[in-house]
Amino acid sequence: MRTGEEKGYETDNKLKKRHLCPSNEFLFLNYPQKCVQETSAPRHDVEWENVFVANSFNFCYAKFVELGKHSNLETVYMPDWFSIKNKITLVSGGSRGIGEMIAAGFLQHGAKVYITSRKAEVCDATAERLQQDYGGECVSLPGDLSKLEGIDDVVTRLHDRESRLDILINNAGASWGAPIMEFPEIGWDKVMDTNVKGLFFLTQKCLPLLREAATYEDPSRVVNIGSVDGIRTPKFENFSYAASKAAVHHLTRQLAARLVRENINVNAIAPGPFPTWMLSGGVGFGGKVDGVDWSIVGKKNPRGRVGTMEDICGLAIYLSSRAGAYTVGETITCDGGSVACSN
Ligand SMILES: NC(=O)c1ccc[n+]([C@@H]2O[C@H](COP(=O)([O-])OP(=O)(O)OC[C@H]3O[C@@H](n4cnc5c(N)ncnc54)[C@H](OP(=O)(O)O)[C@@H]3O)[C@@H](O)[C@H]2O)c1
Repeated sequence: MRTGEEKGYETDNKLKKRHLCPSNEFLFLNYPQKCVQETSAPRHDVEWENVFVANSFNFCYAKFVELGKHSNLETVYMPDWFSIKNKITLVSGGSRGIGEMIAAGFLQHGAKVYITSRKAEVCDATAERLQQDYGGECVSLPGDLSKLEGIDDVVTRLHDRESRLDILINNAGASWGAPIMEFPEIGWDKVMDTNVKGLFFLTQKCLPLLREAATYEDPSRVVNIGSVDGIRTPKFENFSYAASKAAVHHLTRQLAARLVRENINVNAIAPGPFPTWMLSGGVGFGGKVDGVDWSIVGKKNPRGRVGTMEDICGLAIYLSSRAGAYTVGETITCDGGSVACSN
């Protein structure tokens, strides 16, 4: 098993000496960042008295005893269950929309983020802007993920820079709407190639890097972005899109079953309406995201609004952190209740 240092985390060897816990190594391996945070800025009113592992599945508590009071007052310290700090993350379709929201939130929470999309200038500009606005390191790796050559090229460039990948967010997607009798072949192929073929082969090509990051205590993660249109009957005539998203959800289950024993957890998020270029075209805003009244769309949603960065990113962070490490093969909606309230 590799140590925190070998995985590239900040570590503090003094910790090992300071804690007299028999299972300290276990704690150290699982929560190296937390250990460093807690000990580099220790609370003055408490002393680490005892650290123990409650069970062998990563549940650990640190017991604090108040200094000087000699009382029996003890507080249970919660490890940072939702940390994604220092996690190397690739967000496909990260140049705008939902992918950009996830990339921004991951940067804000200390992950190192790679984004990829076809239009190189847009991808580069987004990476630069996100880095400015949210800090950390955001790197642009443009490429066409609907084609194998494009996927190979992106993964090769990622491999040149990193020896592991902790989190893959398969978000890039395309949609097509047309009446049933006019629905063209290109509207079928483009959507399936991006949403299903691209997602599968990007995951396949990233597996060697994901395997490098995967441990029993902290699996590497794949989060696929599906859609509520892959669960309930869509309102639009977007036949290939809805079928592709149902495929994403099923592929998520199958990949999860195949990869869970390799300590790679695969899950999916099925978003409802989010204010992006893709939805803007569908609802008649002509691709505009800013300067349009999204509340018109939001009013039709059970929660009375469209989704936000916090909504989608919060769920992605859960699935990518310690908190989500026992959630496998699930498709979780992030839709304000639109599936729950559909007939
Ligand atoms: N917005 C919603 O309401 C909603 C609801 C449910 C599900 N979703 C899903 O959420 C995901 C993101 O959607 P969004 O609304 O944010 O869409 P969006 O605004 O159209 O963004 C799509 C992103 O994917 C990239 N992309 C498209 N085709 C690509 C390809 N062949 N190779 C690489 N990158 C590609 C785009 O950049 P380039 O064009 O430069 O390549 C862009 O960065 C999609 O999977 C979508 O199906 C969205």
